[in-house]
Amino acid sequence: MTGAARTLAGMTTHDLRPDLATIANPVRGRLNAAFFRLVDGYVHRRLGDRKQALFADLPQRVVELGPGTGANLRYFRPGTHLVAIEPNPHMHPPLARAAAAAGITLDVRAVGAEATGLPSASVDAVVCTLVLCTVPDPAAALAEVRRILRPGGRLLLVEHVAAGRGTFLARLQRLLGRPWRWAFEGCHLHRHTADAVHAAGFSEVRLEHYRLRSVFLPVNQQVSGTAIVAA
Ligand SMILES: C[S@@+](CC[C@H](N)C(=O)[O-])C[C@H]1O[C@@H](n2cnc3c(N)ncnc32)[C@H](O)[C@@H]1O
Repeated sequence: MTGAARTLAGMTTHDLRPDLATIANPVRGRLNAAFFRLVDGYVHRRLGDRKQALFADLPQRVVELGPGTGANLRYFRPGTHLVAIEPNPHMHPPLARAAAAAGITLDVRAVGAEATGLPSASVDAVVCTLVLCTVPDPAAALAEVRRILRPGGRLLLVEHVAAGRGTFLARLQRLLGRPWRWAFEGCHLHRHTADAVHAAGFSEVRLEHYRLRSVFLPVNQQVSGTAIVAA
């Protein structure tokens, strides 16, 4: 971990590493934080049941990669201690407010998922929703998740992925890929995230592939589920 820790509104935060500062563009970083606050209720209506089931039995301490403005906090038990790996500092104030509202204690680390700085085999559960589309190196992020998880520990994920070859959705993803990546700070519309999870060396991977019904057509092809480290 580089950078000194400081306390902000009851949460611990760590300074942003210089190489990650580019992720949080001063304009787009703010706009993305505003956008995810704006669509929070809508995403909850579309994905809430699925997330509720997936996050039903989380342990007391959870690591979340890219929690953004805190879309998932409503599904965590009050009293949960959340280690938030969130490089965009503009997400931190709304995240802190969401945590306070949900009765969750927060340790925010302004680092990337590829190098969390957490000790090896120290975590029981890692949550990751709509983040592996954006991290610069998903394989490195998944390797880091495996490193920090204890034997038997779980990665719980919900991600949008590449649509099937030749489909209308795949063509749309190709068409919108570049502007989307620019607007959403590196978000790739056609990543094969399920393949990356299967290739990451977990002992058991259970993923469901489904088509979401949302107005955000390019991200409607999704996977969700669990990847477990050998006990
Ligand atoms: C599409 S948003 C999803 C936010 C939230 N997880 C949700 O489901 O609404 C992607 C998030 O990943 C974060 N992010 C970007 N690069 C990252 C990285 N290398 N490591 C961890 N998080 C990252 C962004 O700052 C943003 O908060």
